[in-house]
Amino acid sequence: MVSESEKSPADEERVFDALLAHIRRERRLDCSQYKESFLRRRLTVRMRARDVDTYQAYLGVLRSDPAEFDALLVALTINLSYFFRDTAVFEALRYAVLETLVAKRAQSRRLTVWSAGCAGGEEPCSVAMILTDLLGTAISKWDVQIQATDIDANVLARARRGVYKPLSFQDLQAGFVERYFTHDGDTYTLQPAIRRLVTFRQHDLTTPPPLPRYDLILCRNVLIYFAREYQESIVRHLLDYLEPGGYLTLGMAEMLPLALSSRLEAVDGRLRIYRKMKE
Ligand SMILES: C[S@@+](CC[C@H](N)C(=O)[O-])C[C@H]1O[C@@H](n2cnc3c(N)ncnc32)[C@H](O)[C@@H]1O
Repeated sequence: MVSESEKSPADEERVFDALLAHIRRERRLDCSQYKESFLRRRLTVRMRARDVDTYQAYLGVLRSDPAEFDALLVALTINLSYFFRDTAVFEALRYAVLETLVAKRAQSRRLTVWSAGCAGGEEPCSVAMILTDLLGTAISKWDVQIQATDIDANVLARARRGVYKPLSFQDLQAGFVERYFTHDGDTYTLQPAIRRLVTFRQHDLTTPPPLPRYDLILCRNVLIYFAREYQESIVRHLLDYLEPGGYLTLGMAEMLPLALSSRLEAVDGRLRIYRKMKE
């Protein structure tokens, strides 16, 4: 019988593929489009934590310990976020995007927003706070739908609670904590009026979203997990659900795929805020 340490690199590669298939089957997380280097790095972190040094041994741990599966999912779907992440982006979203949309939709009073890959909800709730600021008490007469989706069920459970720690407040703008949170020590609870504007759902962003059309789609710091060849098809997919004249924003470290640049005009290229051209 061949011992673990005698396994050839080719065997390990086969087990690596088997590991990804196991994750897909058991937890419906399809990693095939993620960067391989990213996957290997995250797996190594978990393997070290469990003191195993082959994919085969780690597959055994996953099969016998559901808690390790949870830990692996957290590692694979790094879900760090914070309110108003990249202050300049949210300033621009307020003054160049949301104000314009509010004026444009003054008749129908309907606004639809999709935060794809919302993690703990800081991003969609930042949009909800800005809209509450802009509309004031009139917001009760508007149909504001902010759909916030993520593939990770645990992070969504946290988002639905609306309770945050100081880590989520690195970029928060002055006045927002006082206006929209109650706090007790280092625990901050978001006001129900803001939470009510946001609907959280588990969803893989490569599949059709909850609503057919959005005025604004935020997909920030999510594309970085996908291999370059898939980034274009994901952005193309997002564009299918964006209103003509609607807005898309990506993460500051994410590039708009060149092949799609003729379908979008830059509102602010540096901040990765774009507007879909009328087709
Ligand atoms: C770094 S967080 C970004 C959070 C927020 N958008 C921001 O910029 O602060 C990335 C999120 O993308 C989610 N994610 C990764 N792959 C996904 C997929 N295929 N579908 C939906 N969400 C995904 C992860 O679970 C994670 O919560």
